[in-house]
Amino acid sequence: MKVLVVGGGGREHALVWKIAQSPRVDKIYCAPGNAGIAQMAQCVDIQAEDLDGLLDFAQKEKIDLTVVGPEAPLTIGIVDKFTQAGLRIFGPSKNAAQLEGSKALAKHFMLKHNIPTAKYAAFPNEREAMDYVRSKNKPLVVKASGLAAGKGVIICQYMADALDAVRRVLVDKEFGDAGNQVVIEECLEGQEVSVLAFTDGKTIIPMVPSQDHKRVFDDDKGPNTGGMGAYAPAPLYTPDLHEVVVRDILEPTIKGMANMGWPYKGIIYAGLMITADGPKVLEYNVRFGDPEAQPVLSLLDSDLVEIMEAVIDERLDQVEVKWKKGAAVCVVMAAQGYPGNYPKGDVITGLDKMPENVSVFHAGTAQKEGQIVTNGGRVLGVTAVGQDLPGAIDKAYQGVERIKFNGAHYRKDIGSKAL
Ligand code: AMP
Ligand code: GLY
Repeated sequence: MKVLVVGGGGREHALVWKIAQSPRVDKIYCAPGNAGIAQMAQCVDIQAEDLDGLLDFAQKEKIDLTVVGPEAPLTIGIVDKFTQAGLRIFGPSKNAAQLEGSKALAKHFMLKHNIPTAKYAAFPNEREAMDYVRSKNKPLVVKASGLAAGKGVIICQYMADALDAVRRVLVDKEFGDAGNQVVIEECLEGQEVSVLAFTDGKTIIPMVPSQDHKRVFDDDKGPNTGGMGAYAPAPLYTPDLHEVVVRDILEPTIKGMANMGWPYKGIIYAGLMITADGPKVLEYNVRFGDPEAQPVLSLLDSDLVEIMEAVIDERLDQVEVKWKKGAAVCVVMAAQGYPGNYPKGDVITGLDKMPENVSVFHAGTAQKEGQIVTNGGRVLGVTAVGQDLPGAIDKAYQGVERIKFNGAHYRKDIGSKAL
């Protein structure tokens, strides 16, 4: 069969890598892809949000299965569009994707279905939002309600910071239309874990739990990024905790979506904070995490294509999803200056020197005059599988040390929280 993967980052490289292992797949396309993906799939120059262009391509090439990596095309309705055209596509519908597309809607949904999350209020205008902040006088988290590429969340220790954050979101429109509403939450404390699951709207099959590292520097210092690395499984996610998460979070989420008339199919990702009061949902994502996809897919033993087809056909109850033993770690190598401004076009060397069981998933790379060069903020995700977490960490950093480009930086402590 022919598969089209939509997107062009590290997550999509990991998806292409895993899909290529399926005996059922003859040919993979990726739109737009990157230099690493181009080594295992045919990249096509169509942007992930160009739904007309993608549909046109999929129809012409008679694509059998389309897999969507990023959230943006999902929230603007790629799944509805392809399905209406009679094409098979993996992911939630436009309405269901609003669980990620609108934080205000997601919070309202959780409140209505008794799903544990931080207390909150949402406001479209500045005055009421400011009054609310003044009435709280404690640490708050201020969020642009819409999609802001992971940047629209401001953690505020003091009232003055929260007032300023409200202004940035609602008045200065720092996050564009994503800031048409502001969500203000109580600030939770604890460790974070990413729990992703496959679901066809009835059956839920959780994946191995993972942990992202959002801050740019070691010891969780510096500004937030798209994610500087991840590992799986996360040992803090115990079997007891898992039981609570399935019962109080995943099941009510999928049932609640069906009851609202938005049946949910695809991947549901619950970003959790494990607080002293138990797990609480920080956010939903409607797709694989990036970089979580890299370690999680590295540990998936089953055929991903078979799982995706079962989700589309709503027969996930008939599929057994198997995981490899051991652990996986992804260390992101970023360009100088990231998450701020960064240069592009620096030559990358050492990619062909990886130790065994280490894969380099490209995030922001391009090909130029026969060489692979940097082309984004997050450049590469060096991902290792080991018998245990210390082994995987060791191997991932052995790989990282062999790769060179101007100004490369990476965290040295990915996974160490779990040791
Ligand atoms: P989100 O995009 O909603 O996941 O938020 C990005 C990051 O901000 C999360 O991974 C947390 O580290 C942090 N965050 C979001 N909401 C809260 C909250 N209510 N309390 C504490 N930290 C939060
Ligand atoms: N790693 C966080 C995300 O994919 O949203």
